[in-house]
Amino acid sequence: MVRCGVVGRLIVIGVLVLASRGSGFAQAPAPGGAAGQPRIYANMLYVMRGILYPASNVIFTVQSDDPTSFKPAARPSTSSDPLTSVYGGWDAVGNAGFALAEAANLLIVPGRTCSNGRVAPVQNADWQMFVQEVRDAGMQVVKLAEKKDSDAILDTAQLVADSCLHCHNKYRNNARAGRC
Ligand code: HEC
Repeated sequence: MVRCGVVGRLIVIGVLVLASRGSGFAQAPAPGGAAGQPRIYANMLYVMRGILYPASNVIFTVQSDDPTSFKPAARPSTSSDPLTSVYGGWDAVGNAGFALAEAANLLIVPGRTCSNGRVAPVQNADWQMFVQEVRDAGMQVVKLAEKKDSDAILDTAQLVADSCLHCHNKYRNNARAGRC
């Protein structure tokens, strides 16, 4: 179960992974294909857990913690937290925005399945609209980071959270109708 929570004054606390740990299986690689063709290795669950989740958490974190307040990790070049890495501070925020905008492309590659084996309906107009929301939110984050605009963090984080929620409401949480 995934929730983009809202606490107090629009503080989005992130996407909590509450239940289905280990419930997904990696997707079998698509066969053959020229080297220049996109190939699918992960099902939707792992794209979410591996790419969208960590990137959006950077944005959710800086709602409450100034991005420049993070001390570099003991070994910043291998830090697993972008905010304490060599690309920390506002760079980490901008990079997370780019990561989300680019990750949106992975959500429309035809043939990716969800963990229940269903092929994601990437051709659906509303799926594409939700993906566009992720792109727009990601690039909004990039803009904010370029301007180091602390005042816009809450609103921008809300855009990101909404972009996740809108698709999850239809394609992740709804067991009977749209569940991918
Ligand atoms: C276009 C649709 C779509 C968008 C946009 C989307 N998701 Fe998802 N998400 C899904 C679907 C579908 C699943 C279920 C995947 C599966 O079961 O294989 C999922 C699952 C997840 C999971 C896995 C939870 C678990 O059970 O382990 C996480 C984490 C997640 N999404 C985070 C995000 C975040 C963060 C965003 C926004 C930045 C986002 N998602 C945007 C469709 C979407």
